[in-house]
Amino acid sequence: MAKGFSDEVLRAIRERVDLVEVIGAYVALKRTGQNAVGLCPFHTEKRPSFTVSAAKQLYHCFGCGAGGDLFGFVMQRESVTFPEAVQLLARKAGVPIPDRDGSGVDRHRQTLYEIHTAAAAHFRRRLEGREGEAARRYLQGRQLTPDTMDAFGLGYAMSSWDDLLTALTTQGWTPQQVEEAGLAAPRTQGGGWYDRFRHRVICPIRDVHHNVVAFGGRVLDDALPKYLNSPDTPLFNKGRHLFGLDRAREAVASTGSLVVVEGYFDVMAAHQAGVRHVVATLGTALTPAHLDVIRRLVRRVVLVFDPDAAGVRAAMRTIELFSPLDLHVDVVSLPGGKDPDRIVFEDGPDAFRAALESGVSLVAFVLDHLAPSGDYRRVDAKKDAVARALPVIATLPNPIDRDHYRAWLADRVQVTEASLRDAMGRGAGATPPPRREAPSAPNQAAVRPRAESMVAAALVQGRLAVDQVRGLGLEAFTDQAIRSVVELAFSAGGPPESGAPHTMSASGLWESASGRDDVARTITELAVLSFSDDESGKEVEDCLIDLEISRCERRIQDLRRSIGALESRTDGLTSLQQELDRFTRAKARLHETRRLSVRAVGGE
Ligand code: UTP
Ligand code: MN
Repeated sequence: MAKGFSDEVLRAIRERVDLVEVIGAYVALKRTGQNAVGLCPFHTEKRPSFTVSAAKQLYHCFGCGAGGDLFGFVMQRESVTFPEAVQLLARKAGVPIPDRDGSGVDRHRQTLYEIHTAAAAHFRRRLEGREGEAARRYLQGRQLTPDTMDAFGLGYAMSSWDDLLTALTTQGWTPQQVEEAGLAAPRTQGGGWYDRFRHRVICPIRDVHHNVVAFGGRVLDDALPKYLNSPDTPLFNKGRHLFGLDRAREAVASTGSLVVVEGYFDVMAAHQAGVRHVVATLGTALTPAHLDVIRRLVRRVVLVFDPDAAGVRAAMRTIELFSPLDLHVDVVSLPGGKDPDRIVFEDGPDAFRAALESGVSLVAFVLDHLAPSGDYRRVDAKKDAVARALPVIATLPNPIDRDHYRAWLADRVQVTEASLRDAMGRGAGATPPPRREAPSAPNQAAVRPRAESMVAAALVQGRLAVDQVRGLGLEAFTDQAIRSVVELAFSAGGPPESGAPHTMSASGLWESASGRDDVARTITELAVLSFSDDESGKEVEDCLIDLEISRCERRIQDLRRSIGALESRTDGLTSLQQELDRFTRAKARLHETRRLSVRAVGGE
């Protein structure tokens, strides 16, 4: 039993949930040999140092040192406790957790998920029933097929003050719980609660694990507000959420890009048209939290903005957000200022696809509006356009971008680049604003001695038996963190020479390091280390020899020192001298072995 959960439950979850797949929901992963690598979801980086081992079901980041197993990842990523992570994964895996007194188990979030699932089912039934007639007609009018409605789980909230409340309380939840899920509100006069969503088409909002965490509801006519969304709850944060990401993930991974539109119906229309790497914000502009999600999934983003002033303003704000990130951002404004939903249904899927390809870079899009093409023969026209556009250029963190767009602007308004550089030097942001630095990594990965790392990795990965390493002694490991791991492995491996060669399992070792973060971190680091020659094991063997050579060298040094100190005394000297000879010969022998093994490889 670990912290209130039986071992069977944990094992069942581990068997059914693949860590690579779980992490793949947050980070684009690339396979490299036995491991998969991607950008670390725990710190800001441009080159992937986050490694996941499918075989060991462990992850490790060489950039920040984060590491752990399936449960650890969910805890770290979702900022939840161990029991909550188990609950979440159990639900995903369909592993039932026997109900107990709830000690240590967060029943709270679990209840909210359950309420959402029940509510989604209820809304669906209403859409399918007699009372759903008008909503069905509305959705048909928006040209959604039954398949799309099914896939997105669309529903209908009746024109009633308590239809959902009654259904949910009948199923056993209290009105307070329904309120907390954001689905009901207390009446201002008198007692009781009323349904938040009434007479609206309902669109469930799902997290990347496909759990329903909120709802959006649209009126069937021109009533206001047109859309009503769930409030933020412990399950849902609208400034972070991207609608449709759960269904877009595969296409996002295969295209390497993500299209961000504004509306629910735009996402559904695009997906129905077969363009599936499309998501939407939920009535907010893009936030840093959105970018935090996006930058881990793709290198390329397409933003669909209106070509009007509001669209340009939104784009300008977005430049600042994207600036510190190494992302390629294109802006697409759709023909005729139509939104994607109308393009798809009026002009066809191909027109939509073509439009997505026709984007211009975010900066170019903004500059083109600030300094539109036109007549710049008058000096005032030049000055006005420069005053609008140059500050934007000055804020770009990359000097090559600044250069590029300054040249573009000079050409557009017909001035020399020198005068723009001059203007920039004087006023419009002589130096770019201090770049918002990524939070520094909590723990830079150490540079470890190679042979020690390899041998310890071989030990952790079960390529070497504990007893094959024990002979080296702990002293062979000079790196403190590695030494602690080896020590742990030695003690986990039982007493020396205790029968059959004992090999380690990385996850077992990782678990036994619980509570010792630095040791656990080093174990995950070693668990994902890859070897260049997987079959022969020669690399490991060579490293073993290297460590033995180092051991000899250290002993030789010690002995030389002792001999020096004993120079005047004769007793003891002979035995030390003999030992020195022995080690010197041993070292020569090892070097010979090493040389032969190198030649053997060279001669192949
Ligand atoms: P739009 O007003 O552009 O609507 O809102 P739309 O997506 O084109 O809607 P349809 O096509 O008429 O159905 C874009 C998004 O802004 C949010 C919603 O998420 C919507 O999809 N929004 C809009 C609200 O949250 N509340 C509103 O009252 C309106
Ligand atoms: Mn629309």
